[in-house]
Amino acid sequence: MFSRLIGTGSYLPGDPVTNHDLAARGIDTNDEWIITRTGIRSRHLAPAGTTSSELGLIAAQRALAMADIDPAELDLIIVATSTPDYIFPSTACLIQGKLGNKGAAAFDVQAVCSGFAYALGIADKFIRSDSHKKALVVGAEVFSRILDWNDRGTCVLFGDGAGAVVLEASDKPGILATAMHADGSQNGILNVPGQVCNGQVTGDPFLRMDGQAVFKFAVRVLSDIAEEVATAAGMQTSDVDWLIPHQANIRIIEATGKKLGINRDKVIVTVDRHGNTSAASVPLALDEAVRDGRIQRGQKVLLEGVGGGFTWGAALLEF
Ligand SMILES: CC(C)(COP(=O)(O)OP(=O)(O)OC[C@H]1O[C@@H](n2cnc3c(N)ncnc32)[C@H](O)[C@@H]1OP(=O)(O)O)[C@@H](O)C(=O)NCCC(=O)NCCS
Repeated sequence: MFSRLIGTGSYLPGDPVTNHDLAARGIDTNDEWIITRTGIRSRHLAPAGTTSSELGLIAAQRALAMADIDPAELDLIIVATSTPDYIFPSTACLIQGKLGNKGAAAFDVQAVCSGFAYALGIADKFIRSDSHKKALVVGAEVFSRILDWNDRGTCVLFGDGAGAVVLEASDKPGILATAMHADGSQNGILNVPGQVCNGQVTGDPFLRMDGQAVFKFAVRVLSDIAEEVATAAGMQTSDVDWLIPHQANIRIIEATGKKLGINRDKVIVTVDRHGNTSAASVPLALDEAVRDGRIQRGQKVLLEGVGGGFTWGAALLEF
């Protein structure tokens, strides 16, 4: 029994916001610095009041349409997000309600930029255990809400968006191997160290990051976990048709591809146009490459994420 991808979808809110636009809004930055350090040229920022469940709903509807599945058929809904609409209920329950599904198990996964890889691995385990047959897995974020727009070292890096996949139990190959790991001792290098307490925000409600520590950690674990899932699937990383790494920084993506022996033209890149959309980054890139015809049925695709926690996760699948 495999879990097989039968639909992908994604959604980006509004028009692209370029690096020049950010500088024009008064952020002390410039296009050349951002492109050289990160590869980011533009990102999408959700209009005021727009939530992760609203972005995730559209991505989910598009994935369900591709899969030709009625929302009522879903028996599992997992949403990866670090920017949920509410403390509770979960964003998964909100999307479930908007889709009109009743009865599916629905919950959020909080693994920051690895969230989609974690959620996909969890859904795969539910389906392989034969307890569930049709799963919706969404990554949806409005990171613009947790950015300190006075901190030029972080605010230029992130964007908003959502991506989704529909998985179905199948005897045809689908997800071949998954892995997920964390190292909580590294919680201080990327975090939003605030909370709501007694009616007030306490601590710091904005994203804080030690960029250089994150960079080094990311390259190492993205390479290690890609090797891990390839070995589990009985393959070499150089055999994969497509690598979809978390879209945080072109230099991390290129360093990872090089370490794994994967040619640049086999690596899906959206960071230049999306920025870092955290849990949405991998399913957004996947959907783009499926819809433009690069990813074809039968090809091997390696997805991987890394993010706050620190967490990292990967999946190797036959599309
Ligand atoms: C964030 C990152 C791009 C910063 O690059 P860096 O080379 O480490 O740059 P530094 O933070 O050392 O800053 C270098 C200089 O650029 C300046 N700078 C920072 N942000 C800037 C911006 N947006 N525009 C212009 N200058 C900027 C700094 O103030 C510093 O100036 P100084 O030398 O006068 O003090 C890089 O560390 C990185 O990509 N890290 C990984 C981040 C990531 O991927 N996070 C998500 C993981 S899920």
